[in-house]
Amino acid sequence: MTSHTAQKLADKKLAVLGTGKLGGILLRAYLKQELFPPKRVTATVKHSEKAAALGKELGVAVTTENRKAVHGADIVLLCVKPQVVSEVLKEIAPELHEKTLVISVAASVPTNYIEQHLGGKIPVVRVMPNTPATVGCGMTGICRGAHAGAEHLEMARAMFNAVGRTVVVDEKNMDAVTGLSASGPAFAYIILESLAEAGVKVGLPRDIATLLAAQTMKGAASVVLETGDHPALLKDAVTTPAGCTIDGILELEEGKLRVTLIKAVVKATSRAGELLFEK
Ligand SMILES: NC(=O)c1ccc[n+]([C@@H]2O[C@H](COP(=O)([O-])OP(=O)(O)OC[C@H]3O[C@@H](n4cnc5c(N)ncnc54)[C@H](OP(=O)(O)O)[C@@H]3O)[C@@H](O)[C@H]2O)c1
Repeated sequence: MTSHTAQKLADKKLAVLGTGKLGGILLRAYLKQELFPPKRVTATVKHSEKAAALGKELGVAVTTENRKAVHGADIVLLCVKPQVVSEVLKEIAPELHEKTLVISVAASVPTNYIEQHLGGKIPVVRVMPNTPATVGCGMTGICRGAHAGAEHLEMARAMFNAVGRTVVVDEKNMDAVTGLSASGPAFAYIILESLAEAGVKVGLPRDIATLLAAQTMKGAASVVLETGDHPALLKDAVTTPAGCTIDGILELEEGKLRVTLIKAVVKATSRAGELLFEK
């Protein structure tokens, strides 16, 4: 992030609405990195006992009143479940104006849905992060609504670059981002757990097997990110003719690993388009 953008954020008043798993990860990171000073942050949750506990833990104002929380805010980070978005937007609409940036993490909720609920020409940015943001290794897809400009996109990118990497996509691809990188950590954990289980099967202690599996997946991912090489080329480089890796690959192909992973992302993507319409 440029120090200019960091400075810009430090001057802003932030309201985080729905400080649950994801909202909590983001807010904790912002406070730790001093992206926003605590006195300029207000957060909300549904239950008052949670508000009290969270306020004590984080040292920021936490309330159950969304409308109060967004009063005077420059940036509203909407982190409630998709099904609750419309009710929260109705509550806060009277407090927002064209200078308030609304950033929504809600899966399946289009920017024009948010714009229509708010009325006026409120700038809206839609983002789809993932939970590795907890350790600063998140991946966030970002798109902008009809009234958001480059400066809004830049602010949203700065807020999500603080917890990993960001990529700007067309809104039509946001469900795909949800199915691949937001659901993806769950798929990766299953693969990792299976590799660790395999290590146990071939005689390794579980903690060592888990370390080998996790560091191997992290290492392979880092090589792809750092070299930009095609994964198939990198796979070929590990696969010695008549060696052991090709025997393992044969098993993966027979077990339809590729097709299964493709189908998992396709299913998660189509499910991502449905969440808003459920109660
Ligand atoms: N988890 C992920 O990996 C992930 C990834 C990308 C995007 N998302 C998106 O992030 C959003 C939140 O997901 P999550 O997993 O963080 O859910 P979560 O842990 O259930 O958090 C939701 C939070 O919203 C609060 N809340 C509920 N109704 C509210 C209201 N009317 N006003 C204010 N706060 C209210 C809840 O308060 P209480 O704590 O008091 O119940 C809770 O703190 C969803 O839209 C999801 O699509 C999640």
